[in-house]
Amino acid sequence: MSAKIISISNMKGGVGKTTISVALAQTLAMGSDNRPSAKVLVVDLDAQANASFWLCGHANLTAHIDQNTTIDTFLENAVVFGKSASLKDNVHSAKAHSDRLFVVPSSPHLRIIERELIVFLSRRHRNLLEVERVVSDLLEQQLQELGMLFDVIIFDTAPGISALTEAALRLSQVVVVPTVPDYISNLGLLSFCRTVSWTSNDPKTVIKRMPWVIANKVKQSKHHQLMLEQMRSASAGDDREFNMFRTEIPSSPRIDEIASNLDMDGELGFDSDGADVFSALAKEVLEVAGQISTTDTRAE
Ligand SMILES: Nc1ncnc2c1ncn2[C@@H]1O[C@H](COP(=O)(O)OP(=O)(O)OP(=O)(O)O)[C@@H](O)[C@H]1O
Ligand SMILES: [Mg+2]
Repeated sequence: MSAKIISISNMKGGVGKTTISVALAQTLAMGSDNRPSAKVLVVDLDAQANASFWLCGHANLTAHIDQNTTIDTFLENAVVFGKSASLKDNVHSAKAHSDRLFVVPSSPHLRIIERELIVFLSRRHRNLLEVERVVSDLLEQQLQELGMLFDVIIFDTAPGISALTEAALRLSQVVVVPTVPDYISNLGLLSFCRTVSWTSNDPKTVIKRMPWVIANKVKQSKHHQLMLEQMRSASAGDDREFNMFRTEIPSSPRIDEIASNLDMDGELGFDSDGADVFSALAKEVLEVAGQISTTDTRAE
């Protein structure tokens, strides 16, 4: 498998997971003067389906849902009905940059399917950890094939920590954690770092990864700046629980406007400020993904 696998995750809702997933995906797909364009797949693991609305547009997403080509029908077919389903059949072109940017969409039905999977497997005497393992093994198998077709695969995860999120985190080389630098969000970040299992799927290497925090919605207020200072200092120590990207994403009315209007033409259209910030983040994420087996992991 050659694709870099990246999860965007945080237990806390509304911190910018989807905005960053989509902006990162589009930035990587577009490329820049000093970064070749990449073939990117976004896998939407959130029943809210925000990334799917954004990337497919409302009409196309409705068609994909009607045709049963979303992540939830794949999971149901593969686990509950035991069919030999392929996630590749659920890959769709995004509305913008359709030759480089693709999505496995989600639908609100995912919430019901997740519950169905747990009931189905628990009736077969599987506990919650095993449910997570079943989903994780299934996604890992699919990534073998998809990883040959894409340069980068991005999982946009739901708020909270579900079996699906845990599975995505296990399979990712980089876990990007959007965090607003305020007191409450920082508490949420620590609890995310402490409750997730950071061990990867590969039993031979048993790599323990660390989350990478991206400060989002950053204001120049005293509180945000103080929290940022504290978070940066916490991420610098030997006993750190997370790393931090140098890039900071400002609290921006333009980003908010774009990210709140999910059914535009699929194009982000940031002004140069927004585009530059996501370009800087994309560069850092690729750097981390490239170094992952050396400086950014700790062998147990
Ligand atoms: N840098 C930013 N500046 C201003 N607004 C932002 C920024 N990033 C995200 N937002 C806004 O914050 C809201 C939440 O963003 P988003 O949906 O990306 O968060 P999320 O973490 O994916 O949410 P959820 O937990 O519901 O999945 C949206 O209205 C979005 O427009
Ligand atoms: Mg989201």
